[in-house]
Amino acid sequence: MTTESITITRPDDWHLHLRDGDVLNSVAPFTAKQFQRAIVMPNLRPAVTTVKHAVDYLDRILAAVEGSDFEPLMTLYLTDNTSAAEIMAAHKSCFIKGVKLYPAGATTNSDEGVTDISKCNAALEEMQRAGLPLLVHGEVTDSTVDVFDREKVFIDRVLMPLMDRFPELKIVFEHITTADAVDFVLATGPRIGATVTVHHLMYNRNAMFEGGIRPHNYCLPVLKRESHRQALLQAIASGNEKFFLGTDSAPHAKNLKESSCGCAGIFSAHAAIELYATVFELTGAIDKLEAFASFYGPDFYGLPRNSGTITLEKSAQTIPESYPMADQTVVPLMAGQTIPWRIRSENV
Ligand code: DOR
Ligand code: ZN
Repeated sequence: MTTESITITRPDDWHLHLRDGDVLNSVAPFTAKQFQRAIVMPNLRPAVTTVKHAVDYLDRILAAVEGSDFEPLMTLYLTDNTSAAEIMAAHKSCFIKGVKLYPAGATTNSDEGVTDISKCNAALEEMQRAGLPLLVHGEVTDSTVDVFDREKVFIDRVLMPLMDRFPELKIVFEHITTADAVDFVLATGPRIGATVTVHHLMYNRNAMFEGGIRPHNYCLPVLKRESHRQALLQAIASGNEKFFLGTDSAPHAKNLKESSCGCAGIFSAHAAIELYATVFELTGAIDKLEAFASFYGPDFYGLPRNSGTITLEKSAQTIPESYPMADQTVVPLMAGQTIPWRIRSENV
């Protein structure tokens, strides 16, 4: 490994939004170019609540990336009514790798989500038995809880009691944003892992208000203060295997972001691995990138590591102001700015 180029095992994205229809066709190739596999979020409209929905969605994704060897790893959307039988069928399907908990009202397309986790006992018991991980959007929705505190309060009110009730349930704490979440994950046994997005590593909450309101830096969980970002950087730089790559790349059309009620979500799939490389290098931890991006995720999910590689080289690229997306455009992370790394080749 030199500082001018690095070759790493082909990475995976353990948290991704691909959407559907023409938008899916526009965004999926960005991911397939860099990543071998991705855990695909089920928050479509209607949500992917059954194995039947998931298999149909899988077919549409495969059509969108035709010609590549990208492997979508599907998820089910947990509702108050998800049955144990549906979970059993998901487990048997072999292509469904997790079940997503969206607290109802927490984020984009979460209206069908869980209103009270105690309604999900049968499904959770079956997941625990099958070893199917629960993927958690870790925020409470209580309007009296400050939006910046919702992750911490979720740990206390929901996650800890849930882990007590289901002592063997595997959990991925998705897109963690706080020192509280880092500490919690570190203090808990091997059955809990966490994904970390590149935007939560790059920015603190000031990025939403720099010289005016910045809708393209708005996501959920919302960006936090600098001390929390530092805790995330420390977590990934430590090389601890509980933290792995999950972009949460979440494309919304430009006009829906630049609106009086702009959507939450940051599109980062266009240059995700290059952006992570930039962050790891700035943090002095480029030697930890490969395990974070390519080893710890499959190890947690009990899947094989990839055998191919990708090479990144130190060669600046300027990110476009926007990309076409269906009949609209999407504004990518770092639009119009230059980043130091680019992908050179894929040897898969
Ligand atoms: O910012 C976000 N966007 N956070 C989420 O949890 C959902 C996502 C989306 O689907 O747009
Ligand atoms: Zn997400």
